[in-house]
Amino acid sequence: MFTKQSIIITGGSGLLAINWAIAQRTKYSVTLGMNKRNVTLKGVKSVKFPMTSINSIVDYLNSNKPTLFIHAAGLTNVEKCESEPDLANFVNVELSRNVADACAITGTKLVLISTDHLFSGKNSLASESDELEPLNVYGATKAEAESYASEKCPNALIVRTNFFGWGLKYRKSFSDMIINALRNNKKITLFEDVFYTPILIETLANTIHQLAESGAQGVYNVVGDERISKLEFGYKLARCFSLDPDLISPLSISEKNDLVRRPHDMSLSNSKTCKYLGKKIGDIESQLNILYKQEQLGLVKELEKL
Ligand SMILES: NC(=O)c1ccc[n+]([C@@H]2O[C@H](COP(=O)([O-])OP(=O)(O)OC[C@H]3O[C@@H](n4cnc5c(N)ncnc54)[C@H](OP(=O)(O)O)[C@@H]3O)[C@@H](O)[C@H]2O)c1
Repeated sequence: MFTKQSIIITGGSGLLAINWAIAQRTKYSVTLGMNKRNVTLKGVKSVKFPMTSINSIVDYLNSNKPTLFIHAAGLTNVEKCESEPDLANFVNVELSRNVADACAITGTKLVLISTDHLFSGKNSLASESDELEPLNVYGATKAEAESYASEKCPNALIVRTNFFGWGLKYRKSFSDMIINALRNNKKITLFEDVFYTPILIETLANTIHQLAESGAQGVYNVVGDERISKLEFGYKLARCFSLDPDLISPLSISEKNDLVRRPHDMSLSNSKTCKYLGKKIGDIESQLNILYKQEQLGLVKELEKL
C-alpha cells in the first residue's frame, strides 16, 4: 500500500502554513502545529504544538517521524516585534532554537522559514552570501534563528522569502487588502519606492519541496523572478483580476514617518535556487494567474469557513 510521507508545519494557523497545507495535502500527510488558535482543515491533521520544551518536540518527532519539519511559526508583525522585543526574541529565536535542537537530536530535516528582511536595503537582489544587516528587531531575531539553525542542523534548508496568497478572516494578506479595496471601489495608496520579489505560497511550497527532495541544504532565496515595487504589484494584481488600477495611487515611504525602520529594497536573487533546480520560478503575472484560479477553484470559500 502507498503511504504518503508526513510533514509537520508549525505556525499552523498562519497564512503560510494553511495555504501550504492546502497545496500539499493530496501529496503529503500534513500536520499543522497549533499555538493559541486552533484551525481544522479537511484532509489535514491539527495538533497542539507548544515548542517551549525540546523534549516534547523530540517525543513528537520520534513517534511521528516526519520527513520534513517546516518551522513557520513566528512573530511576523514588524511593529509588534519592535515594541515587544522580548516576545519577538522568545518566539523567533528561542522557539526556533528548541526546534533546531530537537531536529538535531532526532536527525529530522528542518526547513526554517526566514525572511527577506535581513538586509539594509541599499542593494537590490541580495544573494545568499551577502552580509546580513538587519535594520529592526524582526530582522535581527530572524537572522539569529538562521544562524543557530545552520550551526545546529547543517543539513537544514533555510529559506528566505516574501510571499502572497489568500488570507484568512483573522489574518488578511497584502493581496487580500488590495483585492478587497478595489472590489469595493475604494481608493488605496501603495509604496512606489519599496521593492521586493514576491512569490505565491503554492509556488513557494512546491519549490521548497523540490529543493528538499533533491537534498538542498543551507540558505536558499525562494522568491519570484521579478523585482517590483508594491505599487507595481498592485497594478499587476488589478489587471489580472480585471479591477480598476486607477483606484491605486503612488505613495513614497518617506511620507510615512510613523513606521518602524525597515529596508526599502527587500528584493532577493533567486539565481542559486533556479540553478539548483534547473528552472525559473515564474514571473508575477503567471503567479497572479494561479492566485486568480485558486479563487475560481473554491480556495477562498474554504478559507472563509476557518
Ligand atoms: N507574511 C510574509 O509575507 C512573510 C514574509 C517573509 C517571511 N515570513 C515568515 O514566514 C513565516 C510564516 O509567516 P506568516 O505570515 O504565515 O505568519 P502569521 O500568519 O503571522 O502566523 C504566525 C503563526 O505563528 C504562530 N505563533 C505565534 N507565536 C507563537 C508561539 N509563541 N508559539 C507557537 N506558535 C506561535 C501563530 O499562532 P497563534 O496565532 O495561534 O499564536 C501563527 O500560527 C514566519 O516565520 C515569517 O517570519 C513571512
